[in-house]
Amino acid sequence: MRKLTALLSVLTFSTAFVVAADVKENWSKHCASCHGKDGKGQTKAGKMADTRDLTDAAYQASFTDDEAFKQIKEGLKDKAGKERMKPFADKLSDDEIKALVALARTFKK
Ligand code: HEC
Repeated sequence: MRKLTALLSVLTFSTAFVVAADVKENWSKHCASCHGKDGKGQTKAGKMADTRDLTDAAYQASFTDDEAFKQIKEGLKDKAGKERMKPFADKLSDDEIKALVALARTFKK
């Protein structure tokens, strides 16, 4: 029985690990082009889209997880209707988006 418990905890641990790796992969693949690997948004595309610094605590406090979720899923347009952040609804599942919001929160200093 003890062996089983140990096995289960190893399994749980490795699943958590795989999920974490996927999130980082998703971030590199879909988000880092604008937000940068470090979340600061100092990339060429990030500057063009006028991305803001996700390591800034005040900026992090200016949006809720729900707002971030909605924005990642549905995208963000400026007042003139120009796309600033494209919608990811067709590329990422709700769970993947939630994980990315959690990851974005970790950039905060
Ligand atoms: C085309 C560039 C671009 C890409 C790609 C991009 N973003 Fe953004 N992101 C932006 C811009 C622009 C903003 C808004 C900055 C502002 O608030 O003025 C933003 C804001 C955010 C915010 C702040 C939430 C909010 O409600 O303001 C989060 C979190 C975020 N992005 C996460 C992501 C994630 C996760 C991905 C990948 C799935 C991603 N972004 C991909 C440009 C981009």
